[in-house]
Amino acid sequence: KTSNHLRHVESMSILPSGAGRISRLNAVILGESLASEEDDLVFPNEAFSKQAHVPSPQKYLEMYTRSIEDPAGFWSDIASEFYWKERWGPLVYSQNLDIRKGNVEIEWFKGGMTNICYNSLDRIIDSGDGDKVAIFWEGNEPGFDGTLTYNQLLSRVCQLANYLKDVGVRKGDAVVIYLPMLMELPIAMLACSRIGAVHSVVFAGFSAESLAQRIMDCKPKVVITCNAVRRGSKVIYLKDIVDAALAESARNGILLDICLTYENESAMKREATKWQEGRDIWWQDVVPQYPTTCAVEWVDAEDPLFLLYTSGSTGKPKGVLHTTGGYMVYTATTFKYAFDYKPSDIYWCTADCGWITGHSYVTYGPLLNGATIVVYEGAPNYPNAGRCWDIVDKYKVSIFYTAPTLVRSLMREGDQYVTRNSRKSLRVLGSVGEPINPSAWRWFFNVVGAARCPISDTWWQTETGGFMITPLPGAWPQKPGSATFPFFGIQPVIVDEKGAEIEGECSGYLCVKSSWPGAFRTLYGDHERYETTYFSTFPGYYFSGDGCSRDKDGYYWLTGRVDDVINVSGHRIGTAEVESALVSHRHCAEAAVVGVEHEVKGQGIYAFVTLVEGIPYSEDLRRSLILTVRNQIGAFAAPDKVHWAPGLPKTRSGKIMRRILRKIASRQLDELGDTSTLADPSVVDQLIKLADC
Ligand code: PRX
Repeated sequence: KTSNHLRHVESMSILPSGAGRISRLNAVILGESLASEEDDLVFPNEAFSKQAHVPSPQKYLEMYTRSIEDPAGFWSDIASEFYWKERWGPLVYSQNLDIRKGNVEIEWFKGGMTNICYNSLDRIIDSGDGDKVAIFWEGNEPGFDGTLTYNQLLSRVCQLANYLKDVGVRKGDAVVIYLPMLMELPIAMLACSRIGAVHSVVFAGFSAESLAQRIMDCKPKVVITCNAVRRGSKVIYLKDIVDAALAESARNGILLDICLTYENESAMKREATKWQEGRDIWWQDVVPQYPTTCAVEWVDAEDPLFLLYTSGSTGKPKGVLHTTGGYMVYTATTFKYAFDYKPSDIYWCTADCGWITGHSYVTYGPLLNGATIVVYEGAPNYPNAGRCWDIVDKYKVSIFYTAPTLVRSLMREGDQYVTRNSRKSLRVLGSVGEPINPSAWRWFFNVVGAARCPISDTWWQTETGGFMITPLPGAWPQKPGSATFPFFGIQPVIVDEKGAEIEGECSGYLCVKSSWPGAFRTLYGDHERYETTYFSTFPGYYFSGDGCSRDKDGYYWLTGRVDDVINVSGHRIGTAEVESALVSHRHCAEAAVVGVEHEVKGQGIYAFVTLVEGIPYSEDLRRSLILTVRNQIGAFAAPDKVHWAPGLPKTRSGKIMRRILRKIASRQLDELGDTSTLADPSVVDQLIKLADC
């Protein structure tokens, strides 16, 4: 066994700087004490490594080196495995990431004509897999399920695509999709991409106001929704939310002609659904009447594929725009390697298609590989904490991809919910959305994966389209809590405050040096904001907004956001968005929101609220403030704590000192630091006194 370990070490010690140096691993393996997390190594099992796409550090290095030295050759070889109606032009890619040299611009496979729906369905069917299951759908209620083969999925997609075309949706038009995890959600995404329409999926947990804001920004031709959904023991009336959003958009001059509504009978009958004749149309009444074949709209690799709104450090959500060709190649490739995907795998990602994970790794990445996916409608702990493992056994799931928050919440319920199921089909586990703490990693590895399954802790973002830093299962030893090394083609750099690259073991800001095929190309309608948000803090680089350290062995450790974005249960929320919702309450004069550590959610939302003069604190008011945030953003953004604040700590120029608020929120009162520069230092004592009110 030792010799196997040493083989790893020897080969890893030749990793180039940036990809990691592993010299000290020798000492660790030869039995010196494991001094810290950094020295906690989990070695791949030999049998797993043998069958893996990337069986060794050498193989990784070879591929990684080529991807960096010859990106054009590396990516065009992979892209050639897809169907292109016309091959791309002379340049595989062109880029300018340096705002000092002009506009930021990224292009991959420009001039190539393709279609991602064709590559996800028709190409798979043409290869002989038409009868393979594409989707196992599991309803919220146990026993309620459905299956679609690739042939059936294509037919459904074509019917909807034909309907959309018939009502006037054309290439480049936006379509907003506000659906829960029904099969109709990936069907709707694929129908849009088949005809070159740009989908914008809005997570069905967003409120009417948030939905309206997105509709007003992208002005879709059609909104696709359903009447209601069951999630756990609750029924959520989605159509009512859409009605309110459409009324709000109409008040602002954006009128929509069509609201295509799927009748989700198990949650609500159509008779009970509020209806606007002329605008609202039942999916089941029209879509099945259309032909099951539909010609493909060939689009340029750089034509937009979708818009997905995400939070930033200002109040207004950003419309992240991804294009077709590079995104297709990148999501498919990252999926294949980071999960060591094989055609016999059954893959389940618990994310909702309303987030980027559901775009890249529920829908496109897996289907482009011809994978069988599980789509689950319900809550992961319904009717009890064992549901996930019931589903794993029912469908023989072999790759299970989820978020640390779910791992932590299931861990609290006890091992018995896990071990009562066999889970023997599991082969690879995955984690995404926030740093996974080593104890949750260990539980996931030992209890869920029975110490047999490598964990791919994938670091990436809505903006990056696909995985950036991720283990490749079987390729090298893992360190619980570290996302390990960069994916092919990715050149991460850690920079200091001044934007200078730091080598070797260090901590700083995580940037990326060169473009990759899956990178976002702009913020919809606001290229300037794209440049200032991501490319101006550290000129010459894409700045992720995350802090990161690199250890002595070259492993990357993500340490969380360094901007005013907080990460609650893997959901990204801008503090400014929550603040602006709070101050819209008539009794709120001012609000400041910070993130605090939360045992299950990773981070919780902690709001300091100053009331309008003369308004007394009360429990009713606290509830009403929280309700305002739920109504304006969505339940997932509701503050965990409202802290009454007679005043906020501000500098003499009026800037809120969030550093101090973070310390008060986390009760680190002896670490408040210098408060003498505050306009009114006594505010701090008042806040501390009110901490538990
Ligand atoms: O802070 C990082 C965190 O999630 C942020 C991106 O959020 P979003 O765009 O909503 O995408 C989430 C799913 C990709 C990042 O800036 N994050 C994501 N994955 C990880 C992570 N932090 C640490 N480790 C991860 N594996």
